[in-house]
Amino acid sequence: MLDMTSAPPALAAEGVTHRYGGVLALDGVSVQIGTGQFVSVLGSNGAGKSTLAMVLAGLLAPSSGTVRAGGHAVASRGHGGPIAGVSLVPEGRRLFGQLSVRENLLLGGFGAGASGRETRRRLDEVLASLPKALRDDPGRAAATLSGGEQQMLAIGRAIMAQPRTLIIDEPSMGLAPVLINQVYEWLSRLHADGVTILLMEQMATHAVRHSDMMVILDRGRVVYAGSPQGDAASAALISGYIGEEAL
Ligand SMILES: Nc1ncnc2c1ncn2[C@@H]1O[C@H](COP(=O)(O)OP(=O)(O)O)[C@@H](O)[C@H]1O
Ligand SMILES: [Mg+2]
Repeated sequence: MLDMTSAPPALAAEGVTHRYGGVLALDGVSVQIGTGQFVSVLGSNGAGKSTLAMVLAGLLAPSSGTVRAGGHAVASRGHGGPIAGVSLVPEGRRLFGQLSVRENLLLGGFGAGASGRETRRRLDEVLASLPKALRDDPGRAAATLSGGEQQMLAIGRAIMAQPRTLIIDEPSMGLAPVLINQVYEWLSRLHADGVTILLMEQMATHAVRHSDMMVILDRGRVVYAGSPQGDAASAALISGYIGEEAL
């Protein structure tokens, strides 16, 4: 069992600011993702969610401030790089459309530096947890999959790296409610298996239901960070800060 009281946070941003030229995308963001937590970062379009996801994955160096993983500084102005044990499922999934389901998964394993044998072992394991349509025909090109299947495959590719922390940027984007449920059920199982989960979402309802912490971003600033307050109170916070359309 992990001792959550003394473990350093899986990830922490300290005073993180990020500018794209003249655009201030993150403005002094400090947030801690506890080891073993399921955290949702909510915010409307342009709030800074994707930028924060990339900064916390180590894929984008902040303009100022620091990112810590497991208590160690890993990214700050001018340096950084993918953080060991952290995988990002990027917004829009970014699969290799011409490659097969199997090949997309293998790239997730090799990208993380696993050996050929270990990668094939993980492939069988990950394939087994994917929807039947993907399991039954892993030779299918990713581009021919439905939106829900592509999201599941993108998560599968990320977990081929066996991350301790999984960051998922807008998993429910473009999906019908029944598919959103399937994606969240899988995330819940990964969480139950000990993976720390960090979601970026514009649509709050599913995310909050599964989360033990919610963070609300507004124009690059954290305006709320705390535990969900129960359905009605959380909904009031979300509609107050983001708007009814987030529910
Ligand atoms: N590559 C980029 N170049 C310039 N501005 C960007 C870039 N990416 C994002 N932005 C801007 O940064 C802000 C935050 O964007 P983003 O992190 O994508 O927010 P979200 O994911 O919440 O929609 C927005 O104003 C957006 O237009
Ligand atoms: Mg985004």
